[in-house]
Amino acid sequence: MSHVPSSSRYENTNYKRCGRSGIKLPPISLGFWYNFGGYDIFENCRAMVRRAFDLGITHFDLANNYGPPYGSAEENFGRILQKDLKPYRDELIISSKAGWDMWPGPYGNFGSRKYLIASLDQSLKRMGLDYVDIFYHHRPDPETPLEETMGALDYIVRSGRALYVGISQYKPEDTRQAANILRSLGTPLLIHQPNYNIFDRWIERGLLNVLDEEGIGCIVFSPLAQGILTDKYFKDIPKDSRAGKEHIPYFQSDRITEDVLKKVRKLNDLAKERNQSLAQMSLAWVLRQPVITSALIGASKVSQIDDAFGVLQNLNFSEDELRRIDEILST
Ligand SMILES: NC(=O)c1ccc[n+]([C@@H]2O[C@H](COP(=O)([O-])OP(=O)(O)OC[C@H]3O[C@@H](n4cnc5c(N)ncnc54)[C@H](OP(=O)(O)O)[C@@H]3O)[C@@H](O)[C@H]2O)c1
Repeated sequence: MSHVPSSSRYENTNYKRCGRSGIKLPPISLGFWYNFGGYDIFENCRAMVRRAFDLGITHFDLANNYGPPYGSAEENFGRILQKDLKPYRDELIISSKAGWDMWPGPYGNFGSRKYLIASLDQSLKRMGLDYVDIFYHHRPDPETPLEETMGALDYIVRSGRALYVGISQYKPEDTRQAANILRSLGTPLLIHQPNYNIFDRWIERGLLNVLDEEGIGCIVFSPLAQGILTDKYFKDIPKDSRAGKEHIPYFQSDRITEDVLKKVRKLNDLAKERNQSLAQMSLAWVLRQPVITSALIGASKVSQIDDAFGVLQNLNFSEDELRRIDEILST
């Protein structure tokens, strides 16, 4: 039987306009990079998606290579849609991406027209969808002309495969150029997806200004620094954590040094003073930026989604709290 979502799911969330577009996004969105793939327990993935939707989280973010193995997150999401959320398709913003290595040979990576269109066709098939709401170029390609990549995004919208397009990890000047090309083709650039968190602030050095000036929305990934900005690593590396899972290749536990933990413990103390979890304070910290539309979290448990959603209880910072966060980082 299909899931019957909570009837109060839209009562506790203020949706924010994405740049100067017609689309609004929830303050917290859910990403499928890890924990929704072939190594994960399907019923747990399903429970997380159901809970997220019950809380008013309308945006689910995928990519061709999410899993592991590649493609498996989209397949699992397709199954969850089919079982639980099919009647609610028009209430959802579903995104996918291509840009990283996906299949062997010269046409399964980076930013060619051939790769992007073929990859999106594969993604649609895996998810059982006719279209995605947002399709992203996942990372800049230093070799393919920007005109070709943006031309492919424009074609993808015109052919009905996506409603809107985005880019990820593009630097400020390339973002402006991409926006100009897309505008000239008649397909506005809806959104940029960069990484941003208390530790990693590169978007403050130019990108946020460009997004503001160009009217482009911004959804930031890894707002919890992949889980480091929580209290989970204080004692040891739990086996069920991202750092403890052997099948997760891009997150080595040696990133969690004593120096990092010292800072995280101090941040945790400050979060307690604010009556928040550290995850909540870290999410409020990224959402304080007016240009940021949504914070894109990952989760491995339903309780983490509940915790993240609790950020909405306190999104404000005093000048003193912001200064103390900066001080902790600089010690
Ligand atoms: N565009 C890009 O290039 C790009 C790159 C990376 C990610 N993304 C997108 O951004 C999404 C989020 O990235 P991310 O997973 O790195 O984000 P993140 O929110 O910084 O990290 C997620 C991890 O933090 C932990 N966590 C989350 N909430 C928690 C809580 N309340 N308490 C304790 N731990 C908590 C979980 O770790 P455990 O698993 O250890 O429990 C979870 O897997 C991805 O799924 C993907 O959609 C995009």
